[in-house]
Amino acid sequence: MQAVIDKLERTHNLSDDEFAALLAPLSPDDEKYLSQRACHVREKNYGKDVYIRGLIEFTNYCRNNCYYCGIRRDNAHAQRYRLTAEQILSCCHTGYQLGFRTFVLQGGEDAYFTDERLCQLIQEIKRHHADCAVTLSIGERSKESYQRLFAAGADRYLLRHETADKAHYEQLHPPAELSHSHRLQCLRDLKEIGYQVGCGMMVGSPGQTLNCLIKDLRLLQELQPEMVGIGPFIPQHDTPFAQEAGGTAAMTVRLLSIIRLLLPHVLLPSTTALGTIDPRGREKGLLAGANVLMPNLSPTEVRKKYALYDHKICTGEEAAECVRCLAARVESTGYKIVVSRGDHITKEGLY
Ligand code: 5AD
Ligand code: FES
Repeated sequence: MQAVIDKLERTHNLSDDEFAALLAPLSPDDEKYLSQRACHVREKNYGKDVYIRGLIEFTNYCRNNCYYCGIRRDNAHAQRYRLTAEQILSCCHTGYQLGFRTFVLQGGEDAYFTDERLCQLIQEIKRHHADCAVTLSIGERSKESYQRLFAAGADRYLLRHETADKAHYEQLHPPAELSHSHRLQCLRDLKEIGYQVGCGMMVGSPGQTLNCLIKDLRLLQELQPEMVGIGPFIPQHDTPFAQEAGGTAAMTVRLLSIIRLLLPHVLLPSTTALGTIDPRGREKGLLAGANVLMPNLSPTEVRKKYALYDHKICTGEEAAECVRCLAARVESTGYKIVVSRGDHITKEGLY
């Protein structure tokens, strides 16, 4: 298998059969070799630096009804909240003091947050923190809307594709609500406008097959996103998928390494979901090729309400506590958290 891993590192491409073999159970030696090559590539491009992004979960109202997600429209048990502009700015101020230079505004698809309100908010954040990047993670919108938000100063956009397989997409989302093709159109629009774009999938979501994962990897090759967010699917008790099995840390970590070799310069978070299913999940992710962490900056009183999945970690801790905790965890891996926007290295001249 080491020849296949070398080929992936060298050519950033494999045949479907080779991808399938890399996703099947590996010997401990191959497993180790894969993560070593992924770390080598990550260190060649980004050194030992770990970038942190302050996640601000600013609304859990959502017009969608994704079967996996705890803030889906039909979940009457979700306690809905919206942060005010003042609260969001105050999260940014706290975050800035703690060394964050990227703020991620994440929320459900909430009609209250019109372009006008969001543009004002982005401009305000940029006025106070000109040296920071603003990332949006607010779902599907029109191209015009994405354009306005970009013009207001947003730098990056996260929109996970969830799965690259159309039939699988339809197993995860109610019919006639979200469509696979529209999701991909949004990602293409975002790229065209000039955002640094992040896509990504859940690992082990119900109905996911090996073939779905291969399609996910092919989609990453095609889109060449600047960021890729992946995490295990974790069942949420108030959703139609409450009784489904979750994804595994081992598969998530494996995919992180494969993605690092596929897209050597990608910004790759070791996610909170991975840290939720394994107490050392985030460290394992970093040691498999990830180079980003996204701790929560949301006010502690709303953290539990942004329950996309069960048993989410860090819902009781203040932002400062998480930063301290993470600094120690990162140090244990030999990497270090840096104070930086952590932009994508443009590919020019680097391959
Ligand atoms: N388990 C894991 N990840 C989830 N997400 C939503 N619900 C779950 C869940 N139950 C992920 C989706 C979404 C991101 C914000 O959170 O991939 O894009
Ligand atoms: Fe939040 Fe450890 S990162 S408590």
